[in-house]
Amino acid sequence: MNRADVIIVGSGIAALQLAVHLPRNFHVIVLTKSQMKKSNSSLAQGGIAAAIGAEDDPTFHYKDTMEAGRNVNNQLAVHRLTDKAPETIQELVNDQCPFDRDQNGSLQLGREGAHSHSRIVHSGGDQTGRMMIDCLVEKLGSNVHIYENQCVYDLHMEKEGRCYGVKSKTGDELSHSIFAPHVVLATGGCGQLYSFTSNAKEVTGDGIALAYWAGARVKNMEFVQFHPTLLFCNGKTEGLVSEAIRGEGAQLVDDKGKQIMAGVHPMRDLAPRHVVAQTIFNSIQKGRPVYLDISSIPEFKKRFPTAAQLCQRNQVSGSIPVAPGCHFLMGGIEVDDVGRTNVPGLYAVGEAACTDVHGANRLASNSLLEGLVYGKKLAKHIAEQALTPFFQEPPSCNHHENVSGLTLPTVEEIQCHMMDRAGIVREEKSLLTQLKWIESFKLEKWVRTDFSQLTIKQWSILSMLQTSWLITNAALKRTESRGGHFRSDFPYERDEWQGKHTTEIRCSEKR
Ligand code: SIN
Repeated sequence: MNRADVIIVGSGIAALQLAVHLPRNFHVIVLTKSQMKKSNSSLAQGGIAAAIGAEDDPTFHYKDTMEAGRNVNNQLAVHRLTDKAPETIQELVNDQCPFDRDQNGSLQLGREGAHSHSRIVHSGGDQTGRMMIDCLVEKLGSNVHIYENQCVYDLHMEKEGRCYGVKSKTGDELSHSIFAPHVVLATGGCGQLYSFTSNAKEVTGDGIALAYWAGARVKNMEFVQFHPTLLFCNGKTEGLVSEAIRGEGAQLVDDKGKQIMAGVHPMRDLAPRHVVAQTIFNSIQKGRPVYLDISSIPEFKKRFPTAAQLCQRNQVSGSIPVAPGCHFLMGGIEVDDVGRTNVPGLYAVGEAACTDVHGANRLASNSLLEGLVYGKKLAKHIAEQALTPFFQEPPSCNHHENVSGLTLPTVEEIQCHMMDRAGIVREEKSLLTQLKWIESFKLEKWVRTDFSQLTIKQWSILSMLQTSWLITNAALKRTESRGGHFRSDFPYERDEWQGKHTTEIRCSEKR
């Protein structure tokens, strides 16, 4: 399997939509870190946002997306995304995707935070992601070859800076190279950098570290979204409790039954995520646990089977104890409108990419939509490139740093420190402490080692450290609070940051 026309790293909705839409005469290799269906996309509960209701219009969807993103979003990109949403849903309907329907047969439209209209198309109640992945897998052609348990740990780069392949490992011993003129990073975000997270175990930010090491520009990494409601048991978060539940009328209350969102925001329980998450966080910090009161939803188990099973597994009945946790990265690898990075031959799509559609905070149920729209767009762009026979010999090995004497932290240390120092509330002091801590592991030296000599675990910790550094550094730079980025030392939006982005590029010596 050492040559292809396109290599896709990752197997979430954006990766599979891309693979489905690439021409059937393209040889496509999908490399996924664990199993094919283990991704954040498969865990997505809420649904896909599209302005298809009688009273709705893509312009309203556009406005809600911009408002949630606090105008850091690119207006044109948001217009294009929201305009494409109804057509995207229609295509899925034509492909027999099993969306939930009303008794009269029309698509059921749920409501989620910061949406002015009910526009969330869903499937299996709260199993939308899993069902969409199943649909896409069904549509894959025989030109797409999927390899599971592949840890892509390095990119093949020409001296001139073009990416022409990947290096991957199946276990600590087995390393191989695969070459292709188009390499796409669809590795998702980095929720596992935090101890409280809704994300799948696999989602550790590898693609972002790989891209950065290859000289790709990385953008807006301070914008990390904390979902307000993860099930919270024994001091740990156990999984997502969908916002769609609040869309059906559930309310957030404290241990005295007081509605915590009353008087905080006009949209109350359906306020933008960062507002709800910060309110819950503050309440818990003050020793007042928060619960989701679901008593007003008569058929809870039927409408929300995933959440109901999660509660059952954790012996929770009645009101659901909740806490915020890391959910989505708005920033990521900077790409243009079709998914190209600044590194020739290297692309990014889905949560790993920063397309500028989400700005400072993503509107609920816009992420599956982004994966579908941009996956297809990138397929079209790559299909338009000439299908040239391609093979590149690996260059001779560069000088590498010796790994002896270098140490790494544990995964748990990274997660706890990111949560405490660069989490839902940050400030200069905590961020500086975190930056210093990360830098004490001598990242620059690690990055110059021969990655093939590292175990998968070591490499994974290294990439987590790098992505943590990118978040911490960007959070330090942005001296204001906006969307998912809250600084207690700069608690308000500041005019000088309006519409501004933070970017980072590793312009020093390339690997
Ligand atoms: C949820 O169901 O609450 C999550 C949906 C999303 O993140 O868009």
